[in-house]
Amino acid sequence: IKEKCPIIHFDDLGDERGKLVVIEGGKGIPFDIQRVFYIYESDSMVVRGQHANKESEFVLINVSGKSKVRITDGKEEFVVELNKPMMGVYIPTMIWKDMYDFSSDSVLLVLASTHYNSKEYIRDYDDYLKIMGEEENNE
Ligand code: TYD
Repeated sequence: IKEKCPIIHFDDLGDERGKLVVIEGGKGIPFDIQRVFYIYESDSMVVRGQHANKESEFVLINVSGKSKVRITDGKEEFVVELNKPMMGVYIPTMIWKDMYDFSSDSVLLVLASTHYNSKEYIRDYDDYLKIMGEEENNE
């Protein structure tokens, strides 16, 4: 699962005036960016995400503060702490993710490969496991 969801380290183009990170669609991240959103003022008790997407790929970056992302394919899981603006994690389609442990200053920036479409979300974990099991049987 870690191979499917690599940590991406962005170059720092900063100088004595401050730091600068650039992200261009298709360069350094494996898709063209169609949508950007950010999550903030979620406190440490909240769990967000809790879904998998049939069509969307994402890169998650904490541009401020920190949060954790639990990533699973229904079999294996790992947790990434996003705690610096120069790192992100890539999440391909059909991977389940939970975001939690938000610091009070957390701003979690999400780059997405699609425009929003609620129909491509799987929000029930049992449904997700079922679909993953069926996909495996078809392989
Ligand atoms: P939700 O998917 O629950 O957020 P998260 O997974 O980050 O916790 O989205 C919260 C609400 O915002 C939900 O009503 C759908 C809406 N929304 C959009 O309209 N467009 C978007 O791009 C996103 C991410 C959410």
